[in-house]
Amino acid sequence: MYPVQCVLQVQRTVRWGPLASVSWLLLRTCRAHSSHPSAACPGPERQKNGEQKDFSSRLATGPTFQHFLRNTSAPQEKPSLPELEDPPPYLTVEELLGRQRKVYLETYGCQMNVNDTEIAWSILQKSGYLRTSNLQEADVVLLVTCSIREKAEQTIWNRLHQLKALKTKRPRSRVPLRVGILGCMAERLKEEILNREKIVDLLAGPDAYRDLPRLLAVAESGQQAANVLLSLDETYADVMPVQTSPSATSAFVSIMRGCDNMCSYCIVPFTRGRERSRPVASILEEVRKLSDQGLKEVTLLGQNVNSFRDNSEVQFNNAASTNLSRGFSANYKSKQGGLRFSHLLDQVSRIDPEMRIRFTSPHPKDFPDEVLQLIRERDNICKQIHLPAQSGSSRVLAAMRRGYSREAYLELVHHIRDIIPGVSLSSDFIAGFCGETEEDHLQTVSLLRDVQYNVGFLFAYSMRQKTRAYHRLKDDVPEEVKLRRLEELINVFREEASKTNKTFVGCTQLVLVEGLSKRSSTELCGRNDGNLKVVFPDVEMEDVTNPELTGRAQPGDYVLVKITSASSQTLRGHGLCRTTLKDSSAHR
Ligand code: 5AD
Ligand code: SF4
Repeated sequence: MYPVQCVLQVQRTVRWGPLASVSWLLLRTCRAHSSHPSAACPGPERQKNGEQKDFSSRLATGPTFQHFLRNTSAPQEKPSLPELEDPPPYLTVEELLGRQRKVYLETYGCQMNVNDTEIAWSILQKSGYLRTSNLQEADVVLLVTCSIREKAEQTIWNRLHQLKALKTKRPRSRVPLRVGILGCMAERLKEEILNREKIVDLLAGPDAYRDLPRLLAVAESGQQAANVLLSLDETYADVMPVQTSPSATSAFVSIMRGCDNMCSYCIVPFTRGRERSRPVASILEEVRKLSDQGLKEVTLLGQNVNSFRDNSEVQFNNAASTNLSRGFSANYKSKQGGLRFSHLLDQVSRIDPEMRIRFTSPHPKDFPDEVLQLIRERDNICKQIHLPAQSGSSRVLAAMRRGYSREAYLELVHHIRDIIPGVSLSSDFIAGFCGETEEDHLQTVSLLRDVQYNVGFLFAYSMRQKTRAYHRLKDDVPEEVKLRRLEELINVFREEASKTNKTFVGCTQLVLVEGLSKRSSTELCGRNDGNLKVVFPDVEMEDVTNPELTGRAQPGDYVLVKITSASSQTLRGHGLCRTTLKDSSAHR
């Protein structure tokens, strides 16, 4: 066995008082197990071995339990650069700096992971790392991973096999390639990854990205390093994500992290931890900056965006109870006070009337009327709601612990459509959950037909360890049945969506232009208010705010498009004129 230094870390937070979370922080050495051919090699590596010895002796006098406690007592106050001025005793400031090493980041999974990649990069950039989009050029490869389904994890294991070849073939003249696993898979599998794939040098869970410079410094010296601590209050509020595409018209703004819902099939509460919201003021500041940069669309992002609750300001922590959607219940004790989603949405939508506001992903239980009314009233809040149903059978919904029945869900759909006529609805569904019968499946088919969603995300059930379903239920729907049901759901969804989308033919839609269509360089592509893709010819057109100004629409322009045809996923039409959001709403 190689020496392993494990520190059982008790994380206490100032704000939350009592014992907050317990997890492992691992620092381990892997002398004999280094997969790099230079583990016992001459030349520059001798120097490396010297460094390693030096490191080992420093490690011996290194971090104490007190040190870790001190470093984690108030995560909100941990700034990124001052950390470098106060390195842990076993690392120097120089070792914490990137030394111009090139980092290649690869993102898997959901939009939260895209945002996490930007956060991780923002932290590394401040530490002196450079970014590369060329894998061959990289000194560090970081995979931001997803654990939601078995298939997502298998993709990462396959990728690690490819990286192993890259790592072992690396010329000795170059610094050894370091490979890191970030995000949900690091959190779920912890040291199993280090043991199974010897090429992995570091692990960082979703709440440990501030620790990346230290983890990389440890990895640089040939040690494996891991931080998979979950936090009760890490929201990266002060880390401005670095936008990867400077010409983008829209951005995602993270407003909360984690999930307390504990749906019985879902791994997310275990990999991303408890729900916590970012302070309203820091969200508004980020949106203002994005507006100043000329961005035209912001999507508020979180595992449960509409459960948002900013408790950071004491004066708002009253005892006001939480309004849930009618007929819905939560799996946790009712929470009270704080600034809620309707307040945030109101404030964000006031920043720039020309900026579209969207949000994802919400839970159907948190749609009180004040949120729905606000969506109806504000021209720049898109009339688009993701309403993940997961199943159309009340029996399966109960087994999933979703907190609503089919009837309550349908009532909510009707209520939303009454308040926001023409609203675009989308949903997630899981085919073949534990105990799902053919009758249950047909109930889901009929829900798809009843609601007529515009967009759908459909998945075959994948049993995840740790979840309630794993402990209490049986994954008893055979794989081929799951896949057959999934295919049926996809076909029904497509049929219904193309019917629904055909109702747009002959109508005029306000489209925010994103750029040239991927399929044709003579067409532009953008999205309507309901987030449907709209394609139209790239020709000169008038600008309604200045009729003398004819020209081609650019990314970030609003264009009125007359729809001429529709499929289940795309609308097509021709541009009438360039306009503004305000102008087009005035003529609605
Ligand atoms: N198997 C299949 N799909 C899942 N989802 C979450 N957990 C699982 C699982 N174990 C789906 C849900 C969720 C979406 C993000 O992923 O539909 O809304
Ligand atoms: Fe998973 Fe349910 Fe939380 Fe969504 S609401 S992240 S499905 S536990």
